[in-house]
Formats: sequence, C-alpha cells, structure tokens
Amino acid sequence: QQTLYFSRHGESEFNVIGRIGGDAPLSPRGRMYSKSLAKHIHALNLPGLQVWTSTLQRTKATSAHINAPKQALHELDEIWSGDCESLSYEELQERFPKELALRDREKLKYRYPQGESYVDVMQRLVPVLTQLECETNVLTVSHQAVLRCVLAYFMETPVDEIPYVHVPLHTIIKITLQGFNYNMETIKMPI
Ligand code: F6P
Repeated sequence: QQTLYFSRHGESEFNVIGRIGGDAPLSPRGRMYSKSLAKHIHALNLPGLQVWTSTLQRTKATSAHINAPKQALHELDEIWSGDCESLSYEELQERFPKELALRDREKLKYRYPQGESYVDVMQRLVPVLTQLECETNVLTVSHQAVLRCVLAYFMETPVDEIPYVHVPLHTIIKITLQGFNYNMETIKMPI
C-alpha cells in the first residue's frame, strides 16, 4: 500500500506578522510543532521513511527532529512572489493595489511581478509529483501554495479551486492509494 505524508512548515515568524514569502525562522509555536510532528512520525515506525523539504529554513527546521534521510528540493519552495516578497497583504494593498485586484480576479493564472503564478508552481512540481507517485512513506514538508497544488494533483481537485484548497498549519495530511483512488486524512496536532 502506498502512503504519503504532507505538512506545511510549523508557524514561522512571517506567519505571525502576516508577511508572504521570505525565509523566516519558526516561531516558538512552530518549534513546538516540529517536536510533535517528529514524535507522531516516529511512533508510526514507517519502513524506509524519507523526508523531502523545500530549501527554506522553515521547512528544514520543521523536520529537524525527525530521524530519516532528508532531501531539500527547490521545486518544493513556496510560490515566489517576486517584487512582493516579504510584504504583508496590507502593504500589498497600499503599494500594489492593481496587482492585488488582478490576483483576486484570477488567482490561478496571476503571476506576481518578477515572480510566479500557481500555474508556474504546478509546472515546476511535475518532476516531484512523478517521483512521489512511485514512492511510499515519504513525508513532504513544504508551503501553503505548493501543498495546495500537490494535494489537488492527488485528489483530482478542479484546477480553478487549487488556489483556495484548505491546508492548515500544524496538521499532518496522510494520502493513501486505495484501488485507483487516493484517500486523504488529516491529523490536527494539538499545539
Ligand atoms: O502566508 C503564507 C504563505 O505561504 C505565503 O508565503 C504565500 O505567498 C502564501 O501563503 C500563499 O497563499 P496565497 O496564494 O493564498 O496568498
């Protein structure tokens, strides 16, 4: 049976103050999550467990306590918001109101100035998704927009809904292949 695990990184200092992108460290709550994630995953005793993270410090720190081979993949980095990196949504509204309005209108195809769109993220994820389909017991620790695309791929979510898929923090998502379909379960960690 094929089983794959996914998690967003623990809460980061940027999540706390509502800034997008960047490479912020985990907040104290995020660090607590990294410990409970490791405890939960170790208790499962998964044969051949591997951990795939992005190259950003918040996903690496989230998996830091897990004893397993790890790979940091650029493909799993968060959507790149180009000129809007590290701004808060309020600052975006002040400095790039037209951009924000365009994004609200067509979030899937909207590309940040000098940055990426959800469609771009889906394209760069193709090699990782192809590889994940052949693996079992991989824990992927990544980011909100990337995990929206990954989960939508396995769950066959309509493309237009991808930018709105609910992927909460501090929650482990388990996907299991049952027959020809993937089944999804979520495990909310008490933090
Ligand atoms: O706010 C956290 C975050 O991961 C940002 O870094 C990223 O830009 C954003 O979520 C993606 O979500 P949305 O596409 O809804 O802005």
